[in-house]
Amino acid sequence: MAINAPEGTYDLLPDRKLFWEQFKQTARDVFGLYGYLPIETPVIERTELFVRGIGEATDVVGKEMFTALSGANLQKLLNGEKLPSKSRLSLRPEGTAGVVRACVQHDLVPQGAPPAKLMYAGPMFRAERPQFGRQREFNQVGIECLGAEDPATDAEAIIMLMRFFDRVGIPQESRVLLINSLGCATCRPAYREAVRAYMEAHADELCETCRERMELNPLRAFDCKNEQCAQVMEGAPKIGDHLCPDCAEHYDQVRALLDVAGISYVEDQRLVRGLDYYTRTVFEVQTVGDDRAQNAIGGGGRYDKLAEDIGGRPTPGFGFALGFERCANVLEALGHGFPRARACRAFIACVNDEVRADAFALAQVMRDAGVATELDHQGRSLKSQFKLADKLGALAVIILGPDELAEGQVRVRNMNSHEESLVLKDEAIPAVLSIL
Ligand code: HAM
Repeated sequence: MAINAPEGTYDLLPDRKLFWEQFKQTARDVFGLYGYLPIETPVIERTELFVRGIGEATDVVGKEMFTALSGANLQKLLNGEKLPSKSRLSLRPEGTAGVVRACVQHDLVPQGAPPAKLMYAGPMFRAERPQFGRQREFNQVGIECLGAEDPATDAEAIIMLMRFFDRVGIPQESRVLLINSLGCATCRPAYREAVRAYMEAHADELCETCRERMELNPLRAFDCKNEQCAQVMEGAPKIGDHLCPDCAEHYDQVRALLDVAGISYVEDQRLVRGLDYYTRTVFEVQTVGDDRAQNAIGGGGRYDKLAEDIGGRPTPGFGFALGFERCANVLEALGHGFPRARACRAFIACVNDEVRADAFALAQVMRDAGVATELDHQGRSLKSQFKLADKLGALAVIILGPDELAEGQVRVRNMNSHEESLVLKDEAIPAVLSIL
């Protein structure tokens, strides 16, 4: 039986792969204007990084992480031996923890230095139940800004993301920006306790998962998709009433800066996000008129304690990530045309087998001259060579025939206008270039 790609993963075939490359390039162009530089961290990290960074009680770490073992370590585990924590590795479920780890490891934000502004793009892995817009391997583009606590950092990054969506073709009417503040180590514990106490008082109205969450991660109950839980949580204490003066001031300033920049947003006090590292500002961009659970195309926020949690010195941070596949789904629904991956720009067609050696030699000359050129290697008829040229995306076809070649000439066809001209063989490349 043929072996297919694992469930929840997919192949980026040439057209989609080209779009992914263009998508990343647009991100580099837009984020570059704001000072972001590229970084690439390993796809695999020590499990402990995610446990300490993202939080053991989150679904992402507690339930969805793919943990990897080398053959030797798997054997040890099967033999009942204990593995040292260093040998426990996991595929990254997201990019923030790895980038912050790299900043700590390489001291990218020394005392008094300007913030480190970094962007990344690549695959992330979560063992979720696959469905439309939810894969086990998916691609994210993300940014992290480390070293600045100022609300201007939050606002600047959010504005930059909106500019990116504009550029990539997801207009303002198709998206909604939700924002909230989750407070800090000073004000959140009391708020968390207030939510927990409220949930305890309503325990018999909550689903089993929310009852389980109550002690470990009560704020996640705001995300529960169960109708009745949603109704109960409507009455829960609101974070806005529990922010300390510093957090309230920070949040006010973020909103004021977004207002000045003309960015519209909706405040959503139930927006808690699924990763434990967030402090203060959190936000999510969702698609409008899409009530599917997978309507979040991007999200992020501030994480002022993450660097310390993974063993670094106190370093405030802010960042976001967006999901390439979900953005591509939205663009598809908006009727966006996707690029076509062209294997070549020019094609050399042979009238008969006699001229194949000349075609082979001319193809090398054309490629050396910088023109992506293809030709048939399967003995096709002239008609099917034209079909192939079309399929490969050729804009010009050079036709080699024995009679013309004897006169030192070739025919050049413009595949769009179907015009054909007879030119000297030495003039073939300029004739092709004038078509491309
Ligand atoms: P996140 O909200 O977990 O945040 O993921 C960001 C985006 O990745 C989501 O909005 C969604 O578009 C996409 N995504 C997440 N899971 C899946 C999936 N299973 N299948 C397809 N797409 C998915 C983070 O990952 C944080 N690291 C963002 C951040 C950066 N916060 C601060 N800095």
